[in-house]
Amino acid sequence: MFAPSVFAQRRAGLQQAGLSGLLLFVGNVDSPMNYADNTLPFVQDSSFRYFFGLNEPGLAGVIDADSGEATLFGNDPDVADIVWTGQLPSLAERAAQAAVAASRPYAELAARLAEARAAGRPVHYLAPYRGETLIEMGRLLDTHPAQVKDGFSPALTRAVVALREIKGPEEIAEMEAALGVTHAMHIAAMQNAKPGVIEYQVVGIMEGIMRRHDWQLAYPSIFSKRGEVLHNHRHDNVLQQGDLVLNDTGCASGGGYASDITRTFPVGGKFTTRQRELYDTVLDMQLAAIEAIRPGVRYLDVHKLAARVMVERMSALGFFHGDAHEIVESGAYAIAFPHGLGHQIGMDVHDMEALGEDLVGYGDNVERSPLFGMGYLRLGKTLKAGMTLTVEPGLYFIPALIEAWEKEGRHSQFIHYAKFREYADFGGIRIEDNVLVTEDGSRVLGAPIPKTVEEVEAVMAV
Ligand code: GLY
Ligand code: MN
Ligand code: MN
Repeated sequence: MFAPSVFAQRRAGLQQAGLSGLLLFVGNVDSPMNYADNTLPFVQDSSFRYFFGLNEPGLAGVIDADSGEATLFGNDPDVADIVWTGQLPSLAERAAQAAVAASRPYAELAARLAEARAAGRPVHYLAPYRGETLIEMGRLLDTHPAQVKDGFSPALTRAVVALREIKGPEEIAEMEAALGVTHAMHIAAMQNAKPGVIEYQVVGIMEGIMRRHDWQLAYPSIFSKRGEVLHNHRHDNVLQQGDLVLNDTGCASGGGYASDITRTFPVGGKFTTRQRELYDTVLDMQLAAIEAIRPGVRYLDVHKLAARVMVERMSALGFFHGDAHEIVESGAYAIAFPHGLGHQIGMDVHDMEALGEDLVGYGDNVERSPLFGMGYLRLGKTLKAGMTLTVEPGLYFIPALIEAWEKEGRHSQFIHYAKFREYADFGGIRIEDNVLVTEDGSRVLGAPIPKTVEEVEAVMAV
C-alpha cells in the first residue's frame, strides 16, 4: 500500500472537480466460490482502492464534496472474527493507513446517505459492475437494484477517469514490478513450450512463477496454438514442432496494478519463412505505433497507422490490392486485424472499463467507429502525458471470418481471398507491450521481453 498521503492527495484531486454533495465508493465483498465461507480470491474495487487504499472486503468510503471530509465505513473485528482470521487492525487503524480521519460502523452508512438526500444533497456514485454491489447499493440508496445503474454520476465518472488515467511515479513503479514477474513468465513459456508438451503444462509453469510472489492473475491467461481465437481460454492442445503459439499472459502486482503482455513464438524455436514474414509485419505495426505515441495524438489514428502498415506489408505479400488508405478506411483490413490496437492499463487490465467504455476511451470529439474491427477499439481519444496503455497489434487467419466475407463478397475489390484461404491453418500473431505516454513521446514499460525474431530464437535456443 502506498503512503497515506498519496490517498489524501487523490481525494483532494477529486475535490477540484467542483462536485457538490456526497461521493460514495462501495468496496467489494468476498464472492462465494460455491458456499459463503469458501470464497474466490478477493479483488478490491479499483476506484475504492485508488481513493481509500484498503484491500479488504466489507468497506465503503464517503467523501463530502463540499467540506472535503472523508469517512471510512466498516466494522471493527470482534472476537469471533479474530478466532477465525487472527488479529486484525481496528477500523480506525485501517482508516489511518489512507489518511482518513473519520471512521464509522458500516451500519451507519445508509442513514448518512438518507440524511444527505433528505437535505437535498446529491449522492454521486460510479456505475456498479458486480451483482453484490448492485444489491447493496439498492439497499443503501433505498432504491430497486435495477434502478441503481441508471443513477450513476457521469460527472463523478469523468472526475475519477481524469485522475486515474494519469499515473503517478508510484503507480508506474508498481506496473514495472508486475512486468518484472511477467518477464520471467514469458521467458519460461518460450523455454518450456517444446514439442509434445500440453499447453496447460506451460500455463502451470507461468502461473506458478506468479503464485510464488503470492500474486494473482490480472486476467485469464491466453496460451494457445489457436491464436486466431481471440479470447481462447482453453489450454489442452499438444504442441507440435513448428506450431505458432500465442501467449497473452500478465499478472496483478501486490499493490494491485496489472501487466498485459503478448508474445508469439514457434514451437521448436525457429520461425519458418512464412511465419517470419507475417511476424515481422506485426512487429513493424507495433514499432510504428509506439513511435507515433505522444501527447496530443488520437489513439484512433495510431490504430489506423498500425492497420496501414499491415496492409502495405500484406499487399506486398499478395493478400490485399488497392489503395492502403482506402483499405483501412473501408474496414477491409479487419479481415486480418479484427480487434483494437489497445486500451488503457493500470489497476484494471482494461483500466476503468467498468466505468463505461465510451466515457473512459472516447470523448473530446473522438467517436467510436461503427466499422467491424475498428469498432472494437477501446481507446480512441487524444493521448496525454502520464497515460499508460497497451500497444497490441495482431494478425490472424480466422477461417469462419474469411469464409463469411468471401461468401458475401465483402470488400472483394481489396481482398485477395484465394491467398487468405491458403493460410487458413496459420493461426494468429499478436505482440503486446505496456507503454507510458511521456511529455515528448513514449516509453515501453519494464525490462524488454524478447520480441524480434532473433531475440525470440536466441532465448528459445538455450
Ligand atoms: N489480455 C487481454 C487484452 O490484451 O486485452
Ligand atoms: Mn493481452
Ligand atoms: Mn491488452
